[in-house]
Amino acid sequence: MARSRRNGKILCLCLLPCLPLHFIATGASANSGALASHPVRPFWNLRLEDGALWNRLQHIWDREHNPILRVNGTRSKGPSLDVIHLQETGKTSACEQDEAWAYHLPDFSTLPDQMKDFVLSMHCRHYAILMDQPNLCAGQDSKTPFLLMAIKSQVGNFENRQAIRETWGRRDRVRGDGGGRSWFVRTIFLLARQDTETGPHPDLSSLLKLESSTHRDILLWDFKDTFFNLTLKDVLFWDWLSKHCSHVHFIFKGDDDVFVRTKALLDYLNHVRVQKAHGNKTKERDNFVVGDVIANAWPNRQPDTKYYIPESFYKGAYPAYAGGGGVVYTGALALRLREVSPWVSLFPIDDVYLGMCLHRLGVSPTHHPGFLTFDLPEDLREKSCAYHNVLLVHKRTPKEMLTLWKELHVPPQESCNMVDLIGFLV
Ligand SMILES: *[C@@H]1O[C@H](CO)[C@@H](O)[C@H](O)[C@H]1NC(C)=O
Ligand SMILES: *[C@@H]1O[C@H](CO)[C@@H](O)[C@H](O)[C@H]1NC(C)=O
Ligand SMILES: *[C@@H]1O[C@H](CO)[C@@H](O)[C@H](O)[C@H]1NC(C)=O
Repeated sequence: MARSRRNGKILCLCLLPCLPLHFIATGASANSGALASHPVRPFWNLRLEDGALWNRLQHIWDREHNPILRVNGTRSKGPSLDVIHLQETGKTSACEQDEAWAYHLPDFSTLPDQMKDFVLSMHCRHYAILMDQPNLCAGQDSKTPFLLMAIKSQVGNFENRQAIRETWGRRDRVRGDGGGRSWFVRTIFLLARQDTETGPHPDLSSLLKLESSTHRDILLWDFKDTFFNLTLKDVLFWDWLSKHCSHVHFIFKGDDDVFVRTKALLDYLNHVRVQKAHGNKTKERDNFVVGDVIANAWPNRQPDTKYYIPESFYKGAYPAYAGGGGVVYTGALALRLREVSPWVSLFPIDDVYLGMCLHRLGVSPTHHPGFLTFDLPEDLREKSCAYHNVLLVHKRTPKEMLTLWKELHVPPQESCNMVDLIGFLV
């Protein structure tokens, strides 16, 4: 193994054995502790010859961390593969772009800028936290939140955040629609940098500071807030959670332009919790994740679109994943995601990355028709009745959030039966 030290980072030129590629023993689970068992049929288990960068990297990681293949912690000898693999040093020192990655994508120079930027810093996942809320989950009555709403937002979206605070993300004890006991709900916003240093942005830092000290619900990390960097928000949020809110029951992770029927969501989650509280269902409960599940999706290959992923970067289908507009999973699962994510190479689309990590854990997301990440049919959007069967809807402006919130506080009328909705839900 050739090693060279650059900028305090260790670059490893990995020498890899040329083993048959379906090397993972069926059902093997020789891992210890919190780590996941190796998946039986990893979706990324494509032939190395196929040559997509992400797939090759993941192969190397799988192989390195596969206790069956690794004899006494050393790699067996074989022909080399010239893939640079950066060993995570675990340090939070500033992570710089590494031009060396460009050599591993034959079409690098022709790729869109966001893809280039992603590739050049895909070895970085430790970024410093600039605004922290270590006491968020301690709360006034020192109770663990039942539901933590973790909302992806951007520095400039003050209005969205305030609308959420005033409506569905209210920090409070909240009773479900069905009455009964109330649940402790907290909200946190996940932000990264958008300032004069990261692009042509107006300087909003003093406003953000004021907002953070007023509401104490902002997490800000030291990386550029771009679409392809959203995955970092997941990874860093899991880290944060393990330190400061590890006992939370459920996490809602979503966008700041969705509307959530928090009370209905609480009823649903409580139902899940009670249903799976006993005997051999507790594992199912701990691994619970629900949303608008997209199965059998393939990467978008249109170079001029937001979601474009070139074939030189990733080959194969995506694992089943829940649309990133809003997804709910348990606190226990978040801790397992944190454990497994260092073994899953970063991927530029955050909801797909979550799907990859779930796949690695052997967990399948549950589909719920009430998560409308593609909105209601147009003719139903204006009918407040339609919303009584919805858990989440995308997308709504801050004004629409306030209006909806008011309307939904009126108990559903008798006329709000399923007539309009039959065929749409379920
Ligand atoms: C692995 O390590 C053990 C003890 O540390 C040693 O006895 C054994 O020979 C090693 N096996 C190989 C294949 O190197
Ligand atoms: C993500 O953030 C890092 C650190 O700020 C930056 O170097 C990189 O270019 C960003 N990546 C994307 C895809 O914008
Ligand atoms: C486990 O689940 C099965 C059905 O899924 C049930 O028949 C069995 O009684 C359960 N065992 C325990 C210990 O709860």
